[in-house]
Amino acid sequence: MKPAEAIRFDNSRAQAGGWDQPATYRRSVTAGELDLTHGAILYLEDITVSFDGFVALNKLSRTIDAGELRCVIGPNGAGKTTMMDVITGKTRPDAGTVFFGQRIDLTKLSEAEIAHAGIGRKFQKPTIFEQQTVFENLELAMKADKRVRTTLLARLAADERDRIAETLAKVRLADASDRTAGLLSHGQKQWLEIGMLLMQEPLLLLLDEPVAGMSDEETERTAELFQSLAGQRSLVVVEHDMAFIEKIARKVTVLHEGSVIAEGPMGEVQNDPRVIEVYLGR
Ligand SMILES: Nc1ncnc2c1ncn2[C@@H]1O[C@H](COP(=O)(O)OP(=O)(O)O)[C@@H](O)[C@H]1O
Ligand SMILES: [Mg+2]
Repeated sequence: MKPAEAIRFDNSRAQAGGWDQPATYRRSVTAGELDLTHGAILYLEDITVSFDGFVALNKLSRTIDAGELRCVIGPNGAGKTTMMDVITGKTRPDAGTVFFGQRIDLTKLSEAEIAHAGIGRKFQKPTIFEQQTVFENLELAMKADKRVRTTLLARLAADERDRIAETLAKVRLADASDRTAGLLSHGQKQWLEIGMLLMQEPLLLLLDEPVAGMSDEETERTAELFQSLAGQRSLVVVEHDMAFIEKIARKVTVLHEGSVIAEGPMGEVQNDPRVIEVYLGR
């Protein structure tokens, strides 16, 4: 299912009463049921996370639009990764809500349910199958998707092969299809993992420091990849590489001590006195 087809318009969360759906219904939530009535795909509302009294996220509220490519920057310890942990269900907020579309309360779903609902996350260290070929990695990712009714032993249907070929081209690994994944360059491994995420057709992709360790050339290619993905999907990209951010950024959110201190176009936030102070004051 293409994300565009997956969008179903429905009552807004504000209009719809009873959000408390029974657990069985929640478990069956799929991307196809996502309600994007108001054009936003993700709502963080007053999220607070503390670790033994240390406040990592402090009443953080943010909205990500459907199809948006949002960059999140901020010094180490700002809470960027914690924010992604909250969205993906790895960390439960002490207070606040996270809604995916108008009606799916992510704080009530397990990590697996959140992934199934259409949120993909790329960690810094790629989790590819090093012994398998590039093609096989994408095949495994597709078959791990519970929405696809195939078994690991079933032969690939033509349209499944097409999907893999399409993804290979997208992540620039078409020529490396038969290579053992463990032999890829660092950047190629990162692309493969992004490809594996794409096989699951996420509506929202979270990428934590995706170009760390990449060559300039690989970083450039990754910028193009993200730009081509935006629109069809929503992306939230956390990255320290400012040249990369500058290349891809539309709206940049600057986090510091768990709160937003600036937000807007890169040129604007770069010149924001508070942002300069936070980056230079350490
Ligand atoms: N599981 C945890 N236990 C205790 N402290 C944590 C935990 N996760 C993150 N922190 C702390 O929360 C703050 C924010 O961390 P993090 O979200 O990783 O920041 P960033 O990704 O912006 O560098 C840091 O001070 C970090 O030490
Ligand atoms: Mg981090």
